[in-house]
Amino acid sequence: MISSQAFFSALSFPVILALESSCDETAAAICTADGRLLASCISSQADIHRRYGGVVPEVASRNHILHVRPLVEAVLEEARLSLSDIGAFAATRGPGLVSSLLIGTSMAKALAVAEGKPFLAVNHMEGHLLSPFMAGQGPVRPSVALIVSGGHTMLVQVRAVGDYVLLGRTRDDAAGEAFDKVAKMIGLPYPGGPEIDKLASQGNPTAHAFPRSFLDGSSLEFSFSGLKTAVLYELPKLDLENPRALADVCASVQAAIIEVLVEKLVLAARQTGESLVTVSGGVSCNRGLRAALTARCEKEGLTLLLARTELCTDNAGMIAFAAAQHFQLGHSSSLEADVDPNLSLVN
Ligand code: KG4
Ligand code: ZN
Repeated sequence: MISSQAFFSALSFPVILALESSCDETAAAICTADGRLLASCISSQADIHRRYGGVVPEVASRNHILHVRPLVEAVLEEARLSLSDIGAFAATRGPGLVSSLLIGTSMAKALAVAEGKPFLAVNHMEGHLLSPFMAGQGPVRPSVALIVSGGHTMLVQVRAVGDYVLLGRTRDDAAGEAFDKVAKMIGLPYPGGPEIDKLASQGNPTAHAFPRSFLDGSSLEFSFSGLKTAVLYELPKLDLENPRALADVCASVQAAIIEVLVEKLVLAARQTGESLVTVSGGVSCNRGLRAALTARCEKEGLTLLLARTELCTDNAGMIAFAAAQHFQLGHSSSLEADVDPNLSLVN
């Protein structure tokens, strides 16, 4: 992001249109510069990629091309606005699949040039990070954030918009990846997280003692690859045709992941002295995780902000909201800003 006086005049146009195309969802959204979501549309490719058991980058980018323009039209219609009402255009520039990121950023840049408005390149992880503050949750303020998505698991201290300190992250698999890989091993369709969530509610979380990797007691790093191996060793003993046995594995795997996430978040709050904690990313849709977080934070006297479930998985509303936070600070991006598949949230 660069700060530019020239764009301050554009702040009198308080509406931002953002595009998200980092993985297999094409999404567009419009929000006001003060963060009110006016419209949000998503075109999911999950059904297309399910037959391959995961996201195929080439297929994803081709589908983004097909969907991006109709989505722009759809959000404009939903918000009852025309292109000329938009004050700035934003898009996710990373992390993600390079060929997918290029579709959203090229479209947003083209619209910005055509309309003579600023462009904002947004970090997808910042979108997740700030999403719990959407919809009347008050301004972004000092807190500890747990971000749990398909590609990332990290704890971040938020000092202010754009001022983030990495407290810990996964050394191997992300939490969502652990859900997805275990689901695949036990024969559930992609993406596995929601499937495990559904089945876990009917199972016994203590049926299998799967490992909780806390590393050493004060570490804020995560490791989920041991869980996958433990399930692999358990597989020959399981009758997965039996719905009860399948539900028990799901409940036990989910319990192992949840316990680590909840305890590390509480530890991070203690270590930083922050009393506000937020949780975002696709895995934060998980009903068991939301219930465990709510109970544990109440016990610890921590204030918990969870992203609304429709804003947990990839969407453009969170990208528009993150862009709005920066826009209000007078930031914008150069049209030269390239996509970055490995873009980091903290330097
Ligand atoms: O944030 P997201 O939509 O995409 C990334 O940025 O990665 O997260 C997708 C991840 C997938 O791994 C998916 O299985 C997981 O979030 N997920 C869930 C649930 N819903 C989505 N994991 C557990 N329980 C859920 N209900
Ligand atoms: Zn995401």
